Amino acid sequence: MDLKGKNALVTGSGIRLGRAIALALGEAGCNLALHYNTSVESVIQVKSDLEKMGRKAHVFQQDLEDISHVQDLMTQVCSEFGHIDILINNAGIYPAGSGKAATPEKINKVFNVNLFSPWLLISAFASQLPREVQGKVINISDGKVFRNGTDHFSYRVTKQAINTITAMFALELAPNITVNAIAPGTMLPLLGYEHVDLQVVADRQIPLKRIGSPEIIAQNVLHILSQDFMTGDVIRVDGGEFL
Ligand SMILES: NC(=O)c1ccc[n+]([C@@H]2O[C@H](COP(=O)([O-])OP(=O)(O)OC[C@H]3O[C@@H](n4cnc5c(N)ncnc54)[C@H](OP(=O)(O)O)[C@@H]3O)[C@@H](O)[C@H]2O)c1
Repeated sequence: MDLKGKNALVTGSGIRLGRAIALALGEAGCNLALHYNTSVESVIQVKSDLEKMGRKAHVFQQDLEDISHVQDLMTQVCSEFGHIDILINNAGIYPAGSGKAATPEKINKVFNVNLFSPWLLISAFASQLPREVQGKVINISDGKVFRNGTDHFSYRVTKQAINTITAMFALELAPNITVNAIAPGTMLPLLGYEHVDLQVVADRQIPLKRIGSPEIIAQNVLHILSQDFMTGDVIRVDGGEFL
C-alpha cells in the first residue's frame, strides 16, 4: 500500500508505542486520527508534530472501557476524514494478577479495553470502508503470550484472543482488508517503573541482549503496511525472548 494521503486511526496514540506509530505513519505520508483517553497534553503535542510535517491530524477522546461508544468513535473519525484506510489497535491495559485473584469486574475492564474494543473497531472499520478501497488493520498483541505463565491472567487471555481474532478477521474480511498483528517483547519500562534497569533484564532473558523500542514497533507497522500478500499473521518483535 502506498501510504501517501491515506487516513489512519491509532488508538492510544498520545504516548509510548502509539505515539511512535502515529509519528512514523505521519512521516510516511498518512493523515492521522489520534485517539487518546487521558493523555491529552501528549496527544496534542503529537498532533502538532504531525501538522508540522504537513499532515492532517485530529484528536478523539474515548474511554475504551465503555464499549457502548466504540461505534461513536468511528463515526466521529469518519465525519472528519471521510473514511479510514488503516486501523492500528494499540491501546491496552496490563493489570497484574493470577486467575484465582481475578474478579468479574477486573476481567470485564481488561476484556473491554484489550479485546472487545479492538474487535468492535475492526468491525466498524470494515463497515465504513468503501467497497473498492483497500484497508489494513494491525493489532498490537504481546510476545509473552507465546509462552504460558500465571502472571497477568486476564491480560494474557485478551492478547491470546487478539491473536485468534487477527486470523479470524483476516479470513472474514479478505480480499480487500488485511488483518495482522505485532507481538512486542520488552520495549519500555512499565509506567511507574522507569527506574528499572532493563539492560539487566535483557542480559538475563533476551537472546539478542537488548530491549526494543517504540520506534522498532513503528518500523514493523510500516513493514506490514507495505505488504499486500500477508494477512492473519502475528509477527514477534521480541529479540527472541519468547521463542
Ligand atoms: N511497552 C511494552 O513493552 C509492550 C510490550 C508488549 C506489548 N505491548 C502492548 O503495546 C500496546 C501499547 O503499550 P504501551 O506500553 O505503549 O502502552 P501503555 O503505556 O500501557 O499505555 C496504554 C495506552 O492505552 C491507552 N489506554 C489505556 N486504557 C485506556 C482506556 N480505558 N481507553 C482508551 N485508551 C486507553 C492509553 O491512553 P491514554 O494514555 O490517553 O489514557 C495509552 O495510550 C499495548 O496494547 C500493550 O499491551 C507493550
